[in-house]
Amino acid sequence: MDAAQAVLKISDMPFPAVDEQQGTVEGAGPAPRADNRDTVGEPFVEDPRMTCRDVNVYYGEKHAIRDVSIDIAHNEVLAMIGPSGCGKSTFLRCLNRMNDTVDTCRVSGRILLDGLDIYGRLVDVVPLRARVGMVFQKPNPFPKSIYDNIAYGPRIHGLAESRSELDGIVENSLKKAGLWQEVHDRLDQPGTGLSGGQQQRLCIARAIAVQPEVILMDEPCSALDPIATATVEDLIAELREQYTIVIVTHNMQQAARVSRRTAYFHLGALIEVGPTDRIFTNPRHRLTEDYITGRFG
Ligand SMILES: Nc1ncnc2c1ncn2[C@@H]1O[C@H](COP(=O)(O)OP(=O)(O)OP(=O)(O)O)[C@@H](O)[C@H]1O
Ligand SMILES: [Mg+2]
Repeated sequence: MDAAQAVLKISDMPFPAVDEQQGTVEGAGPAPRADNRDTVGEPFVEDPRMTCRDVNVYYGEKHAIRDVSIDIAHNEVLAMIGPSGCGKSTFLRCLNRMNDTVDTCRVSGRILLDGLDIYGRLVDVVPLRARVGMVFQKPNPFPKSIYDNIAYGPRIHGLAESRSELDGIVENSLKKAGLWQEVHDRLDQPGTGLSGGQQQRLCIARAIAVQPEVILMDEPCSALDPIATATVEDLIAELREQYTIVIVTHNMQQAARVSRRTAYFHLGALIEVGPTDRIFTNPRHRLTEDYITGRFG
């Protein structure tokens, strides 16, 4: 049985309710220790693109990510799964310093991109966020034309020396995002006029246009219908040839279809990481098993 089949056996599984007062998941027994450093499985890889060590995140007093250490490989799709509120988005946003925009948020530990400490004093977040691009849950095209949505990043990063070079980047990015056929004859029309699935592919094209190394996706399909979702999943399968992709998803079939490795988070701790097939067919930690099978307790 492969991972997708294993997941398909889980019918409409309800997601566990995290009781933040008690710090427990209903029926799942005691929460992991606050100082949980013992991620089960294979969180580390040889020659990683990103390296995260002892990452802790606080929102004021709230300890949202606890001692998370993981590597992210070159050209892999890493899926991050776990109950609502377990810290998936928080951890994802650490990877391109998007949490810097939250006043109360404090991040400690080390996160390296190709050996560069992205929290280093001299690091400028603007080029960092081009190298580590982000696609959000709700497609958020700029209120500009389709062309200008894509051209915006290359312009501010000075990636094109001439109009024809910029045209080439726009065309290429839209082709890679599988949108060129649908929009090539209306590039001057507003990006916001596209369908939801097209808008999400436009946002992916926008991220690609600045030649990122890593693309972060936070539930990129949750606002899309099944057909648009399938298109975006096909796109992820193609993009992984060239990019490293980290995707947060509540849809376990999706995690099984698109990712090579899966990381399971629980109450801010990274419980288990491993090849997606193994995580879904033979999880090693009871909390992972309880979550993916829909059994709690
Ligand atoms: N801006 C913020 N200020 C304060 N607390 C926050 C903030 N953002 C997130 N949190 C808290 O941090 C914890 C982790 O939240 P996060 O959004 O990362 O979870 P998640 O796993 O992405 O959940 P979901 O699956 O519902 O999107 C939660 O307890 C949440 O309430
Ligand atoms: Mg989230």
